[in-house]
Amino acid sequence: MAPHAPLIVPSVLPADAARLGDEVAELCEAGVDRIQWDVMDGVFVPNLTFGPDVIAAARAHSTVGFEAHLMVVEPDRLLDRYVDAGCELVIVHAETTPHLHRTLRRIRELGARSGVALNPHTPAEVVEGVLEETDLLLPMTVNPGFGGQSYIPAVERKVARLRAMVDASGLDIEIEVDGGISDTTIAGAASSGADVFISGSWLFKHPEGKAAGVRLLRERAAAAMRPLVHAGGVT
Ligand code: DX5
Repeated sequence: MAPHAPLIVPSVLPADAARLGDEVAELCEAGVDRIQWDVMDGVFVPNLTFGPDVIAAARAHSTVGFEAHLMVVEPDRLLDRYVDAGCELVIVHAETTPHLHRTLRRIRELGARSGVALNPHTPAEVVEGVLEETDLLLPMTVNPGFGGQSYIPAVERKVARLRAMVDASGLDIEIEVDGGISDTTIAGAASSGADVFISGSWLFKHPEGKAAGVRLLRERAAAAMRPLVHAGGVT
């Protein structure tokens, strides 16, 4: 299917951990479409972040859905914990499981939507055999582990490849980019075929506030996507 209308999804990685409930509520008021929790285990990536109990506690403060981006080894051990914590979408890294097909099916069996994240070096072809099992593809535009890194433009070639695969499949799969997304980088990702945009540090630091930042990102993405959406019909 052609790209969806752009979705703006903040990462709460830069949020004030002492005020997570309030930060989540402020993001909802700013008009975000979903909220992403960057879950890191200190093994797959050299950082340690949110456990399921933290996400469950924040759930009551949110009017939008939660997604968990699991940057963890052996994610199958944790899938049910993050679904039970209130994540309607669970994203695993292709690099962390030898049985990606089975892992994605398990996420759906638990009642959540499934997603596959790819590190910058991992080719798009890795997901060729699991398109029917996934609701979202996440070509990372930074090396995972930290916010505030620089966008990697070379990943746009992979985004375009994934867009071609998804459109050829006729399946309803979102293509999400994550890392270094700002008012100046979002157009390149959008024109390459992405339709969901994760922003952390840029959005939290936007001088005119989060609502203005969300509006600006949405406008820039929609303008860059217009030729693609027009070609494939609006979805
Ligand atoms: C990396 C994280 C970051 C975060 C967004 O592992 O996944 O990409 O979500 O970070 P910014 O928007 O600050 O680059």
